[in-house]
Amino acid sequence: MSLLFKRLKGFADIYGPMRESFFKMETQARQVFGLFGFEELRTPILEQTALFQRSIGSATDVVQKEMFSFTDSKDRSMTLRPEATAGVMRACIENGLVNIGTVSRFFTIGPMFRHERPQKGRMRQFHQINCESLGSDSPYADAELICMLLDFLRRLNLSSLTLKMNSLGCGECRNNYLDKLRAFFAGVEKEKFCPDCQARISTNPLRVLDCKNEACRQILVSAPLLLDNVCDECKIHFQTVLKLLDLSGVQVEIDHHLVRGLDYYIRTTFEVASNDIGAQTAVAGGGRYDGLISQLGGPDIPGVGFACGMERLALLMKESSPQTLDFYFIAPENEQREKAFLLVSELRKNGFSGEMNYDKGGFKSLMRQASKSGAKFCIILGQDEAQSNSVSIKNMRDGSQNLVEQSELVACFANYLAKLG
Ligand code: HAM
Repeated sequence: MSLLFKRLKGFADIYGPMRESFFKMETQARQVFGLFGFEELRTPILEQTALFQRSIGSATDVVQKEMFSFTDSKDRSMTLRPEATAGVMRACIENGLVNIGTVSRFFTIGPMFRHERPQKGRMRQFHQINCESLGSDSPYADAELICMLLDFLRRLNLSSLTLKMNSLGCGECRNNYLDKLRAFFAGVEKEKFCPDCQARISTNPLRVLDCKNEACRQILVSAPLLLDNVCDECKIHFQTVLKLLDLSGVQVEIDHHLVRGLDYYIRTTFEVASNDIGAQTAVAGGGRYDGLISQLGGPDIPGVGFACGMERLALLMKESSPQTLDFYFIAPENEQREKAFLLVSELRKNGFSGEMNYDKGGFKSLMRQASKSGAKFCIILGQDEAQSNSVSIKNMRDGSQNLVEQSELVACFANYLAKLG
C-alpha cells in the first residue's frame, strides 16, 4: 500500500478519543444552552468575502492574512468562514430571525477556517461552539452569557481556567482613547516596537496592546488604560457585569490589554484562558458587538456572544473512554448465521449495542475478536445451542456463562446487563 493522498497541513481527521471529546462537548453544549433558551442555527460554510471584510474589519489579521478566499467561475470572491458571528448575523437579517424589542439566542457548532501557521492548538480548519444573544444591550445579557459559558466548561470538568475581561467602551470613548494611545505611541521611537506593531500603530493601534513581544510589552506598561478612558455609561455597564459575575461566584481577572482580534467589539470583551495547552492559551473568547447588525444592513439590534475552540478544549479534557459495546455475537457456522442476524437485530431494536461475525470462523479466533471488541458480553450460537433453540451468554469480565432460550434473549440480556451495573 502506498499513501497516494495525505491530509493538508493544518487540517485534521477526527476519530477515537478526539471524536469522543467532540461528542461530549456537543452534547453538553446542547443541554446547557437549551437551559438558557438558545436555539441551534446552521449557516453555510461558504459566504461572500465582503461579509467578513465588513464585519470582522479590513485591517484585522483574520481578513488581511488568514482567510481562505477564492474567486468562482463568475468572478465573485468567496471565503470559507473564519468565524461564525458574521454568518449568523447575515442569516438573522436575511431570514428575519431578529426583531427590535425581543431577545433571540442562537448557537452554532461547526468548522471554521483560518490560514495561520499550524501549531499545537492552532489549526487551519478548527471547530467552534459559538453563541450569540441578540436584542438586549443590558449588562444582564453579558453576565448571563458568561455564566452560561462557564457552566458549559464546568460540565467538561476543566480546571485551572482563567476568565479575563476588559471593556473597550463605546465607539465614542474608544475614539477618544485612540487619540490618547496614538499620542502615547508618538512619544516612543518606532524602532523600539516589533515589526508587526510598527505597522499596527497606523493600521490597527488597539492590537498593539495585546502584542506578545516582550519589548512591546515593556513599552505598554506605561500606556494609557482603556478602562480609565471609558465614558460613565460604559463604566457603569462594565461594573454591573462584574457585579453580577461576582454575585454568581465567578472570579474575574481584569486584563487591560485584552482587545480581541476582531473589529466589531464594543464594551465588554472576555477570554477564557488555560496555561495547559502551550502558546495558544485562549479556549474561548467573545464580547459585545452592538452596531454590527445595522452595519450589515439589518435593524439596530445589539448583541453579545462568544465562541469556544473545540480542538483546544479537547486538549484539556481528560481522555474520554470510548463507547463499550454491550455484546459481541458469535455464530461460528454458516447454518446459524441467519438466526444470529435476526437475534442481533432484535437486541439492537431493544437498545443494546453490539456486533456479530459475518463469516464462518474458528471458535477460538472468534472469541479473540469478541474480547478485542471490548464488549461486555459475548453471545454464542453454536450447533449445540441451535439444537435447543438457545444461546450462551458469556460475561467477558468474570468469564461466567449461562444458557438462555432464544425467545427469552432480550429479557435475559437486559437482566445480565443491569446486574453488571
Ligand atoms: P476568536 O477569539 O477569534 O473569536 O475565536 C474563538 C476561539 O476559537 C478562540 O478562543 C480559540 O479557542 C478558537 N480558535 C481561533 N482560531 C483558532 C485556530 N486557528 N485553531 C484552533 N482554534 C482556534 C471569534 O471567532 C468570535 N467570532 C467569537 C464571538 C462570537 N464573539 C462574539 N460572538
